[in-house]
Amino acid sequence: MASSLCCCLLFLLFSVVLEWEHAIAELEDQATMVALRRELSVKEWELGGLSFCAWSGVTCDGENRFVAALELPRRSLRGNISLIAQLKSLQRLDLSGNAFHGSVPDSFGDLVELEFLDLSMNKLENQIPASLGAMRKLTALNLSNNLLVGEIPDDFKKLTRLEELQISANNLTGSIPDWIGMLTGLRVLSAYENGLSGIIPRNLGLVSQLEVLNLHSNQLQGVIPESIFASGKLQVLILTVNKLSGSLPDSVGNCRGLSNLRIGNNRLVGGIPKSIGNISSLTYFEANNNHLSGEIVPEFAKCANLTLLNLAYNGFTQMVPLQFGELKNLQEFIVSGNSLTGEIPRSLLKCRNLSKLDLSNNRFNGSLPKDICNMTRLQFLLLGQNSISGEIPKEIGNCVRLLELQLGSNYLTGDVPPEIGRIKNLQIALNLSFNHLRGALPRELGKLDKLVSLDVSNNQLSGSIPSELKGMQSLIEVNFSNNQLSGQVPIFAPFQKSSISSFSGNEGLCGDPVNVTCNNYYELNHHKVSYKIILAVVGSGLTVFATVSVIVALFMMKEKQEMATKAKMAAGDVLVTPPPVVAANVFVESMKQAVDFDSVVKTTLKDLNKMSNGTFSTVYKAVMPSGLVLSVKKLKSVERTVVHHQNKMIRELERLGNINHGNLMKPIGYVIYEDIALLLHPYMPNGTLMELIHNTEKSESEPDWPRRLSIVIGVAEGLAFLHHIAIVHLDISSCNIFLDAHYNALVGEVEISKLLDPSKGTASISAVAGSFGYIPPEYAYTMQVTAPGNVYSFGVVLLEILTSRLPVDEVFGEGIDLVKWVHSAPIRGETPEQIMDARLSTISFAWRKQMLAVLKVAMLCTDSTPAKRPKMKKVVEMLLEVKQN
Ligand SMILES: *[C@@H]1O[C@H](CO)[C@@H](O)[C@H](O)[C@H]1NC(C)=O
Ligand SMILES: *[C@@H]1O[C@H](CO)[C@@H](O)[C@H](O)[C@H]1NC(C)=O
Ligand SMILES: *[C@@H]1O[C@H](CO)[C@@H](O)[C@H](O)[C@H]1NC(C)=O
Ligand SMILES: *[C@@H]1O[C@H](CO)[C@@H](O)[C@H](O)[C@H]1NC(C)=O
Ligand SMILES: *[C@@H]1O[C@H](CO)[C@@H](O)[C@H](O)[C@H]1NC(C)=O
Ligand SMILES: *[C@@H]1O[C@H](CO)[C@@H](O)[C@H](O)[C@H]1NC(C)=O
Ligand SMILES: *[C@@H]1O[C@H](CO)[C@@H](O)[C@H](O)[C@H]1NC(C)=O
Ligand SMILES: *[C@@H]1O[C@H](CO)[C@@H](O)[C@H](O)[C@H]1NC(C)=O
Ligand SMILES: *[C@@H]1O[C@H](CO)[C@@H](O)[C@H](O)[C@H]1NC(C)=O
Repeated sequence: MASSLCCCLLFLLFSVVLEWEHAIAELEDQATMVALRRELSVKEWELGGLSFCAWSGVTCDGENRFVAALELPRRSLRGNISLIAQLKSLQRLDLSGNAFHGSVPDSFGDLVELEFLDLSMNKLENQIPASLGAMRKLTALNLSNNLLVGEIPDDFKKLTRLEELQISANNLTGSIPDWIGMLTGLRVLSAYENGLSGIIPRNLGLVSQLEVLNLHSNQLQGVIPESIFASGKLQVLILTVNKLSGSLPDSVGNCRGLSNLRIGNNRLVGGIPKSIGNISSLTYFEANNNHLSGEIVPEFAKCANLTLLNLAYNGFTQMVPLQFGELKNLQEFIVSGNSLTGEIPRSLLKCRNLSKLDLSNNRFNGSLPKDICNMTRLQFLLLGQNSISGEIPKEIGNCVRLLELQLGSNYLTGDVPPEIGRIKNLQIALNLSFNHLRGALPRELGKLDKLVSLDVSNNQLSGSIPSELKGMQSLIEVNFSNNQLSGQVPIFAPFQKSSISSFSGNEGLCGDPVNVTCNNYYELNHHKVSYKIILAVVGSGLTVFATVSVIVALFMMKEKQEMATKAKMAAGDVLVTPPPVVAANVFVESMKQAVDFDSVVKTTLKDLNKMSNGTFSTVYKAVMPSGLVLSVKKLKSVERTVVHHQNKMIRELERLGNINHGNLMKPIGYVIYEDIALLLHPYMPNGTLMELIHNTEKSESEPDWPRRLSIVIGVAEGLAFLHHIAIVHLDISSCNIFLDAHYNALVGEVEISKLLDPSKGTASISAVAGSFGYIPPEYAYTMQVTAPGNVYSFGVVLLEILTSRLPVDEVFGEGIDLVKWVHSAPIRGETPEQIMDARLSTISFAWRKQMLAVLKVAMLCTDSTPAKRPKMKKVVEMLLEVKQN
């Protein structure tokens, strides 16, 4: 009895002590949480009472005493996080995507219960504290995307339960320690974009089931260790841009689930192991810019999912295996800069999904196959610098989706087939230089109105340069040099703006810019004209004669004048005094002194200063005598209505000048002369989003998804603001999204939207329908510009950044634009993978995930039913969510 009572008492006492301890602990977390609320100023917490377990992002243990998880990702928080170290029971801490700076607190080592720690995407600096090694229960540690320096602390060897270690995108140095190879649970090691040196540990993956190893962009040396393939579980291996040597181990074939293998830009030697054929999941294989050699193994053909094979700039020899025709999913085959021989592999023509065939800079011989265009999706046919002979088959005209055709530096003979003119999509370049082509240039080339660069130099072409080439309105670079061309160079700005060297080595050419005047030729032409006139005159009565003469005289005078001004413009030398300024103003006080209105007007008289041509305006770059650079927008003649409402316009402009939003391009002033209105804006050094997306192929800039995402978020914010102040934009397109020096996005043409507001009767829908490809389907019926219509156009911009494709492109097929093409992908059985730009989506899982999420948003925005589209404000929220995830 006594003993049981005693027992009971003891038990009571014990429970009291236990409760008391809990109470203290609760008090402690309470105090910490209240202090933390003050320190971090988490908005949602301010309304919460004292019971911190109910605060958002806080999870307590079962008895609501301790904080077990604190998850506050992506809230732009700042402040001192060292207080958190007092939450001793914490198991999960996620502070990623905030604005914390300073060091990672030393005291975090006290969080001995912690299993998950994510501090990624902050501004944490200095060294990683060794004390973190005390968090023995840690299974996932993420310190990526900070400003951390120094080495990976040796004390981390105590983190024996670590499964995922992510420390990429910092400024870490030193080597990858050996003990990482001893972590038995390690599945993910991501340390790319640091300054890590030394070797990849020889034991990495021996005792663990490594799935993801991403070490790209470091200074790593030594070999790719066999150990990483030992467990056969590897799915992603990215080692690009290091200094690795040795060869790709045979054991890579153990990893049947390996889908992404990227080892480009290293110093690797040896051949590709035949075991590559056992990697049935292989989708992306990239090994360019190494010293690999031997044959391109036929075993690749067994990897049925292979989508990209890039072996460029190595020492591969022999022929491309016949079996490659089996690669039905192959989209890019890039083997430039090797020593491959034999004919252009006909088997490849069976790869109907191929969009890029780059065989340039090899020793391919034989002729160009007639059925090369059996690869109907081909966009890039790059065969330059080989030994290809024979004629260019006329069937080349069937490759209607080609964007670039490179055939330079081969032994091609015969004529330039006029059928090339059928490749209407040809945009990037047509290069036929350094061959043995003869005959005249076909006038059908003039139909290539999207082409930017034309090079036919160093052939034996003869005859004159056809005046039809004036149809090539996008031309920027031309080279006709070293042929046997003769006659007058057609008067066409891209020609006259070229240097003499683009025409040199042609004895018979004359006229601007060539150094020889065309006396004979001109005379001949004039005779022809007068002959015709005389015929006309003789055939008609006397009165008619008078009228005709007057008209002809007037016409010729006008033409002469135009020629004269054109020539002057081409020479960049406008002698005419600028017409008087009717009205002008600069709204920004600090810029008033720096803007010279006469210079602004002069600028717009010179074609040389033209930067772009929009639906409603032409934009010029103007350098003021003060050195200030401006972008000057000249409203097109259709919009003369604007000038007729001059006072209204000036009032609206001044009002818009006061709008303060970082993503809207606001006017800084205007100039009006004659009946022309010029709007002044700050000059945008990084051009437009259009140029950023669609010129990457040319500039070979690094694919940069985060930049694209930030840009569209800026655009969405700007549009949401416009809608908030009841302005509907009239022409949202990637051409109207400008990028400042920091790639901050500014939505342009805002004033047009205000000035031409159709609801105010200043313009009709026909004038303001926007840009082709961005116009929502309902505009055709409703004849009204609406906010949901803006959302649609913005959705098209989203699709552009995801796919890197133009909103309208013949590639999609008859009557199909980008929106329809994307929406009908599931019907065609295509995965998002095949729609998104692989140069972006395959860089990292994180990018891919974000792209898939943005694709969802884009699908909502481009819904054919206006009511189903989200509001711009909601779009901003969704995109921010994507960015911060
Ligand atoms: C945070 O507070 C702790 C303790 O008060 C201090 O040692 C530390 O320097 C502070 N950190 C920052 C980044 O201000
Ligand atoms: C950080 O890494 C962990 C573990 O790999 C992962 O679960 C988490 O999603 C990553 N955080 C971010 C913001 O990507
Ligand atoms: C990284 O560290 C190196 C040397 O410590 C320094 O020169 C470099 O500026 C740092 N880079 C960044 C982005 O902080
Ligand atoms: C591929 O796998 C098969 C069956 O697992 C095996 O017999 C063969 O040796 C492997 N081939 C190579 C080249 O590793
Ligand atoms: C090939 O890709 C498809 C679609 O992504 C996938 O379902 C399939 O499992 C892949 N095949 C292999 C062998 O990995
Ligand atoms: C192109 O790829 C798709 C999807 O992977 C595949 O279904 C189709 O058969 C391929 N096309 C051809 C012509 O092989
Ligand atoms: C192409 O090159 C291969 C090997 O270099 C040679 O055997 C073959 O005769 C050549 N063919 C032509 C048409 O020159
Ligand atoms: C190209 O297509 C034509 C017509 O479909 C076919 O006759 C020819 O065999 C194909 N060529 C190759 C190399 O596949
Ligand atoms: C143009 O011709 C003149 C006179 O023949 C010569 O002096 C000059 O060097 C030539 N200029 C060029 C660029 O060929």
